[in-house]
Amino acid sequence: MRTYLVTGGAGFIGSNYIHYMFRKYGDDIRIINVDSLTYAGNLENLKEIAGRSNYTFIRADITDKEAIKKIFSENEIDRVVHFAAESHVDRSIKNPEVFVKTNVLGTAVMLNCAREAWELPDGSYKEDKKFLHVSTDEVYGSLADDGSYFYETTPYAPHSPYSASKASSDLLVKAYIDTYHFPANITNCSNNYGPYQFPEKLIPLIINNALLGKKLPVYGDGKNVRDWLYVDDHAKGIDMVQEMGRLGETYNIGGHNEKQNIEIISIILDTLLEMLPEDDARRAHISRDLITYVEDRKGHDRRYAIAPDKIKAEIGWEPETMFKDGIKKTIAWYFEHEDWMKNVTSGDYQNYYEEMYHGK
Ligand code: NAD
Ligand code: DAU
Repeated sequence: MRTYLVTGGAGFIGSNYIHYMFRKYGDDIRIINVDSLTYAGNLENLKEIAGRSNYTFIRADITDKEAIKKIFSENEIDRVVHFAAESHVDRSIKNPEVFVKTNVLGTAVMLNCAREAWELPDGSYKEDKKFLHVSTDEVYGSLADDGSYFYETTPYAPHSPYSASKASSDLLVKAYIDTYHFPANITNCSNNYGPYQFPEKLIPLIINNALLGKKLPVYGDGKNVRDWLYVDDHAKGIDMVQEMGRLGETYNIGGHNEKQNIEIISIILDTLLEMLPEDDARRAHISRDLITYVEDRKGHDRRYAIAPDKIKAEIGWEPETMFKDGIKKTIAWYFEHEDWMKNVTSGDYQNYYEEMYHGK
């Protein structure tokens, strides 16, 4: 039975990936999830699978070398899928240091512990060991509104402390591949949306605020473009790259679904009105009047757009979920999980929200 070590599995994409993997492989795999449970990590995301005999949760920080080493020494790990990171651009602008610590040092610790566990005396590796580093399209910088795309060969040009720390972590993985022939892949993915996303990110923030009748903050002119991918499609892509990709290669994963932020907000408002029952009181306050233009994000990247040509040609992966369907599934999930939203928006979230959007 293959054993996976998943880092950051209590976060948004990590928890969706773990659910996807158990749906796909059932009892044929074992998953160990290591997560330090920062504000973004939530074990409630995994409660349906927490009791499985082939699932283990370990609370540990990926920068804690001894803790990670112990996991490798006590378990024969076959696959590492490395999600754990500080992931929110706005937080990185306010407090860059923790991004460097987790994203750069944490990745170095993961690489080193995996190499120590897997490398043989002659410099080759134990059979069928693989490390997948989950990264972002933001490492490539920003595109003009000219129909151009990010390819795997696009030079790195990160702008925010978040994307600079992710770019650094990618370069470390590439250095391990080149220096030690380390068996790794990198995936650079576009913006994800779907269940369990923390409401500091655009889509869940807008859904939550609209349902509460709160203002919908739009940075700058609202015309920045992101390329949205349903999170299950990302989970599937990660698994396909790990099993079918050429070792040492980078694969871009994207939705071919570019939308301006203001379009996303309009679609969410229309979909909420379409899905809420006629007698639901919240319909009364859901309107475009809630849209509020606020000060722009510092260094705000204008446009991201992934060309997923390589992953399609080599591996046969393509985005499957149309945005109009994915957003309905996402909104339906938030309707069904009001308690989840109440729990994650209590306490620290209120302080964050006040500080971030005070007076806006
Ligand atoms: P998230 O913020 O929702 O989750 C991050 C998880 O990592 C949390 O569970 C958190 O507790 C854990 N974590 C943070 N610091 C840790 C540490 N020091 N030790 C152990 N665990 C720690 O993030 P996400 O949106 O799920 O993103 C997951 C990965 O995917 C990240 O590497 C991110 O850069 C990348 N990514 C995200 C997107 C997106 O749209 N969200 C797109 C492309 C790539
Ligand atoms: O592109 C992949 C990246 O997507 C990931 O690497 C990051 O981890 C993930 O957080 C996401 O980054 P973005 O900065 O693109 O996502 P965010 O949801 O924060 O913002 C999306 C767009 O919406 C961006 O142009 C900023 C804008 N925005 C965001 C918020 C939170 C607003 O206009 N208002 C808001 O309140």
